[in-house]
Amino acid sequence: MSVKPPDRVRMTGISKRYGPIQTLADVSLRLAPGEVLGLVGDNGAGKSTLSKVLSGAVVPDAGTIEIDGQDVRFASPADARAAHVEMVYQDLSLCDTVDVAGNIFLGREPVKRLAGVRLLDKRRMHADAKAMLEKLGIVIADTRLKVENLSGGQRQSIAIGRAASFEPKVLIMDEPTAALAVAEVEAVLDLVRAVSARGVSVILITHRLQDLFLVCDRIQVMYEGRNVAERRIEDTDVEEVVNLIVGRKFAARSARRSPAEAGADA
Ligand SMILES: Nc1ncnc2c1ncn2[C@@H]1O[C@H](COP(=O)(O)OP(=O)(O)OP(=O)(O)O)[C@@H](O)[C@H]1O
Ligand SMILES: [Mg+2]
Repeated sequence: MSVKPPDRVRMTGISKRYGPIQTLADVSLRLAPGEVLGLVGDNGAGKSTLSKVLSGAVVPDAGTIEIDGQDVRFASPADARAAHVEMVYQDLSLCDTVDVAGNIFLGREPVKRLAGVRLLDKRRMHADAKAMLEKLGIVIADTRLKVENLSGGQRQSIAIGRAASFEPKVLIMDEPTAALAVAEVEAVLDLVRAVSARGVSVILITHRLQDLFLVCDRIQVMYEGRNVAERRIEDTDVEEVVNLIVGRKFAARSARRSPAEAGADA
């Protein structure tokens, strides 16, 4: 019998209720090392909430999480970060009035001592930020630029760069391409590829279904707080994914069967 390495992430039986709304009902998710999983579903399906459970921002009512086969319990994003899980939120959570390097190192800026006084080591911070971004192929002319002056795609890259700088094993990106121009989308998808090529497992939430087919290994579809389907990317197409998302899963299956296949079970 061959021994399989444990999944990087295994979420089981995750439930979360907000008042009358059962936002998540017995949801599971698994993710292999270096795998890119597309998490899709209609508005309100529970994608962001499930991701926030994994990133420690939401504590579920029930369910378990294992990382590399170890049970974990996240009470905060700091707990998830300690387990090498990072999330880039839908709203990015960048500080507009702070420069690029400052955003990447927010809260852990390098310091130096001068005559016993702790000072921000700006030179090192900019050099480290530049090296960090270059490693991921992110092109920003100057790490001294304030984030408010960057394009949507550049801001997205900085948020991803910041998350990647924590050396995550799991990186969750919640609609990273939603507000971007075409060339910027390509750049973000390149980043997804670059990060996963380094062995990081990625969860990509997106409504741009064509992107799934460019970077994902597998997709998981949610519908009204539940798992409805999972497909390897080579086993599906946009039409089927759309049908799964809107809940026409049975129609989708029968529409895909050719007359010969249908006749075979008759
Ligand atoms: N903090 C909260 N308080 C109350 N209800 C919430 C809260 N967070 C999420 N919900 C509800 O849970 C459901 C799922 O929300 P969630 O944001 O996870 O969906 P989503 O799949 O990410 O949707 P979208 O594609 O629109 O981002 C929605 O009905 C939402 O209103
Ligand atoms: Mg969402």
